[in-house]
Amino acid sequence: MSAFGNHTSEKPRIIRSSDQMRNFVRNQQADGNRVGVVPTMGALHAGHLSLVQASTDQCDCTVVTIFINPTQFGPGEDFQKYPRTLESDLGALSHYGVSALFVPEVEVMYPPGHATSIDVGQVSRLCEGVRRTTHFQGVATVVMKLFQIIPANCAFFGQKDYQQTLVIRRMVEDLNVPVQIVVCPIVRESDGLALSSRNVYLSADQRRQALSLSRALRHGRDLFAGGELDAKKIVSTMRRVIDEASGDIMPDYLILADPLTLEESAEANQETIALVAAQVGATRLIDNHVLSHPWLEPLV
Ligand code: PAJ
Repeated sequence: MSAFGNHTSEKPRIIRSSDQMRNFVRNQQADGNRVGVVPTMGALHAGHLSLVQASTDQCDCTVVTIFINPTQFGPGEDFQKYPRTLESDLGALSHYGVSALFVPEVEVMYPPGHATSIDVGQVSRLCEGVRRTTHFQGVATVVMKLFQIIPANCAFFGQKDYQQTLVIRRMVEDLNVPVQIVVCPIVRESDGLALSSRNVYLSADQRRQALSLSRALRHGRDLFAGGELDAKKIVSTMRRVIDEASGDIMPDYLILADPLTLEESAEANQETIALVAAQVGATRLIDNHVLSHPWLEPLV
């Protein structure tokens, strides 16, 4: 049990300086505590909290970070209007035995003169990287910086952002970062919609349209379970599900891919992952599912 206790209902200690944050982690580790970190941009929902739960289950001391990272938003994206809900985030975290919450200002993460960024190569260019050309450079850079400030034993990420987990795994391996990456399952609403901080942007009608993403994934899963292996056939059925939603939904990509390289597959197998992205009005939504996996009962 850490000095700050696990599974208490106390609000975590807020840390804003990187030196204080690093010292805190080092002291915990000097006491023999295994430290887990959960990087987030805040507006916490049950998906984020499932990562926090996994960390408090697996580690003695959990650090959550909240930083809306400007470098991963492209021009015209929602950086300015991204929900900022620190008070309610703190309240939510108080039930999880989180030891510290790192909430740096932009100037702490990107002091004047900051010039270095990390390019993770091919896996960051596909899917999300096609339209959001600088997104994963921003993600990789900030996550690497967080790993330097919080030299945790374990770091927890959600499968919801599947490509992000590949980018981070690649980076950690290529740059010899001594942290274990843990990927946690997607948390969905009871009707299948994957939880996302961006869901608050959706009107009731857009939310109805957004449901077609998870419905399409479930159809893909069902076709595969019924023996269909032809990727073209599976994808065209999935696309029809989204087209039927009508309204202002615009599918971006919908592919069956290799789970490590994200190269498109012609034939599905046990490992194949289906990835989908769509624009619903001004809101970009993503979702994914490994075709051979059962469609889990929603956790919320
Ligand atoms: P954010 O979108 O806040 O997500 C933080 C973490 O929560 C990510 O690992 C994400 O995959 C996970 N998550 C989001 N929705 C989830 C859901 N429905 N079920 C399970 N996990 C879910 O991802 C980022 O922030 C940023 O890119 C970050 C890694 C913090 C770097 O800035």
